[in-house]
Amino acid sequence: MGKDVIIACDFSSKEETLAFLDIFQGRKPYVKIGMELFYAAGPDIVREIKQRGHKIFLDLKLHDIPNTVKKAMSVLSHLDVDMTNLHAAGTVRMMEAAIEGLTRPDGTRPLLIAVTQLTSTDQESMERDLWIEKPIDQVVMHYAENAKRAGLDGVVCSPLEAGKVHAACGAQFITVTPGVRFADGDVGDQKRVMTPAAAKEIGSDYIVVGRPVTQAEDPVAAYERCVREFVD
Ligand code: C5P
Repeated sequence: MGKDVIIACDFSSKEETLAFLDIFQGRKPYVKIGMELFYAAGPDIVREIKQRGHKIFLDLKLHDIPNTVKKAMSVLSHLDVDMTNLHAAGTVRMMEAAIEGLTRPDGTRPLLIAVTQLTSTDQESMERDLWIEKPIDQVVMHYAENAKRAGLDGVVCSPLEAGKVHAACGAQFITVTPGVRFADGDVGDQKRVMTPAAAKEIGSDYIVVGRPVTQAEDPVAAYERCVREFVD
C-alpha cells in the first residue's frame, strides 16, 4: 500500500484552488476536493486538476437510495478520480450498488471508502438524534466491517482509530485519516489530532491535511514536511 499525503483543498473557487496548486510547480500532490469546491466550481475543476497531473480524492460523501447512488457513482467514474466516498449509514446494499456504479466497463474503478460516523457526531448526539444506543467506537467498527463486506476499499477515520480498523478489517483495508497537525502547530477546531509521524506509526495509509498546509506561510515546505514525516 503506497502511503501518501492528501492536501484538503478547502477553497471556495476554482481560481483560488489553481493559484494554490501553482505554487507547487513541479510537484503534484494528491488533492482532496470536497463539497464546497465541487458545488462552487463543478466537475470542470476535477477535470482541470486531473489534467495537471494530480491524483484526486473526491470527497462528496454520497448517501441516498441504492439506485441513485449507483447512477451518481457511474457519473463520477467518468471523471477519472482516484478515490471517492460515501456514508456507510446508507446500508450494505447501498455500498454494493455504489461499487457497481463506480466500476467502469473495463473493470477498473476508483478506490471507494466509507465514512463511518462523522467526527462531529459524539455518543450523546448519536443517542439523542439518531437513536443509536451502542457505544460509538463499536458503531464505527461495525460500519467499517459493513464497508468491507460490501467490497469497499477502506474508511475515513481518526488516526486514533486506524490501528483498530486494521485489526478488525485487515492490513489491506485502507485508512484515510484527517485530523493531522504538526507537533508545534495550531490545532484549530480539530479535537483529536495526531502528527504525521504518529499517524505513520499507527498505520494510517493516507493522511488528509488541510490548514496546516493551505494556511502555512510556505505551503510547499509544510507539505514537504508532511511527506518527510509520513512517507519517507
Ligand atoms: O484543515 P484540516 O487539516 O482540519 O482539514 C481536514 C480535512 O478533512 C477537511 O477537509 C475536513 O472536512 C476533512 N475531514 C475531517 N474529519 C473527518 C472527515 C473529514 O477533518 N472526520
